[in-house]
Amino acid sequence: MIEEIEYIKPKLHLFICCNERGKDSPLKISCSPTITAENVAEVKKWIVEHGLYREILITKTGCLGKCTSKGGVILSYPENKYYLGIQNTKEIIEIIQKKLN
Ligand code: FES
Repeated sequence: MIEEIEYIKPKLHLFICCNERGKDSPLKISCSPTITAENVAEVKKWIVEHGLYREILITKTGCLGKCTSKGGVILSYPENKYYLGIQNTKEIIEIIQKKLN
């Protein structure tokens, strides 16, 4: 039986690409290894430590279609913006802090 429940819209929902292409991929570039599941885990840990888990959702994703050789890609809701060229966990946390202010 399918259950239907209320969706409480978060203040911020970040979709963080951790896609890693194989060496043989014709597309060559991908967000991982610059941004990996480990970075996402660190961000989630920071969110919990700061009591923000009800306001901020983080979802690890595959390719978001904006691949760049400059770094990782994040899609942010509800502002509907991409952040390109992310280098590390600190930069992801900075995006969150900027959106909360
Ligand atoms: S591999 Fe991350 S946006 Fe394409």
